[in-house]
Amino acid sequence: MNHETPRIAVIFATSQGSTREIAEYVGADLANRRADVEVADVAHAPELSRFDAVILGSAVHDREVLPEMSEFVRAHANELTAAEVWIFSVGIGPALRGPIGRWLGRKVPQNIASLRDSVSPKGYRAFAGHYERAGVSLRARALYRLFGGPRYGDLRDWSAISDWSATIARALRLPQPKSIIVYP
Ligand SMILES: Cc1cc2nc3c(=O)[nH]c(=O)nc-3n(C[C@H](O)[C@H](O)[C@H](O)COP(=O)(O)O)c2cc1C
Repeated sequence: MNHETPRIAVIFATSQGSTREIAEYVGADLANRRADVEVADVAHAPELSRFDAVILGSAVHDREVLPEMSEFVRAHANELTAAEVWIFSVGIGPALRGPIGRWLGRKVPQNIASLRDSVSPKGYRAFAGHYERAGVSLRARALYRLFGGPRYGDLRDWSAISDWSATIARALRLPQPKSIIVYP
């Protein structure tokens, strides 16, 4: 499908909201470049055949995307393979520091890599999200410290998110933004 105004769906799966805010930011940025954008929770995803491009984003829990996102990708594998797809995941990896932390942070968990490769996306990016100390086990806290976890709270890098959104805009040949979108 090739509309004069590209139609883009941004579909997200979140547990605590930081993936939704990234999806909303990317959606607003692409709409600001004159795309026709719909942002939706995966539970209320629109019919995919209406779109020229689909951006999928999910929080990472236990080295996997959330189950509702992996189910969605499996259920719509045919439409997704036919569409231009971009994928992002939101976890703690990109925030890890130090030699081991950086090395670990660049590794894509096996299950995420297989799901990603099953739809041959145009691009994939991992972003840091929001990591709250409350509820994290002592073992996970110790590992987080060991691998260079910098702090708890909001770890998102909005300039990395903005750069990725601009990369998608260039691939879709969208015009320059109408105005500047301020990070949340
Ligand atoms: C139960 C739980 C398990 C998590 N497991 C991982 C993990 O395996 N890898 C990772 O990078 N981040 C992990 N995280 C961190 C989350 O991915 C991070 O907090 C993310 O921002 C959540 O996105 P959301 O705010 O959209 O729910 C975990 C968080 C929770 C609460």
